[in-house]
Amino acid sequence: MTPRDLALWNAAKPWLDVRSNDVHTLIAWRLAGTLLTLRPGADEAVVLPAIILHDTGWKQMPQEKLALAVGPNAQFPELQRDHELAGVEIGRDILGTLALGLDDAAILAIIDGHDTTKAARSAEDAIVKDADKLWRFTPHGVATIGGWFQTPAPETLAMLEDFVLPSFLTPEARIMAQGFLAEGWASAERDERMMG
Ligand SMILES: [Fe+2]
Ligand SMILES: [Fe+2]
Repeated sequence: MTPRDLALWNAAKPWLDVRSNDVHTLIAWRLAGTLLTLRPGADEAVVLPAIILHDTGWKQMPQEKLALAVGPNAQFPELQRDHELAGVEIGRDILGTLALGLDDAAILAIIDGHDTTKAARSAEDAIVKDADKLWRFTPHGVATIGGWFQTPAPETLAMLEDFVLPSFLTPEARIMAQGFLAEGWASAERDERMMG
């Protein structure tokens, strides 16, 4: 990480030790970096700080509701919006304290709505949203989501393929997701062959 992103990461880290958000954030940060090289028009000084800060708000949500906040049968879907708003406040504090000379308003605007708005509001927003989603297709994402919903890997992969793959905003992220899916299916198949 650059000194800038390391400073942001260190400030965000105490807010990320719920629902594997720390590892989720590190992986999404790396995936966003790859998308930035594939889509050179976007401003990395907005994308990367936004990724580091985007899920800090989860820590302020009632912990017993976390597992039931997302997914097809979410019991507390309002937490989707609430964690965005909490993240904007935490992000504002962190950016203000670090005073890195960034476009704070642009970064906070991406955090605000990163899950609850679906369209790309800017080139930077598209990359943040896609990197966030792309994490789900990685081995850590598949394992983490499988833990949340008690779904075995093949079921998780099928869900990602059917419902998440069509929703990418950039073709680059969709292609990367297809690569992760191929690896995921191969791993699931290997487990089946080894056990069978
Ligand atoms: Fe989020
Ligand atoms: Fe996220």
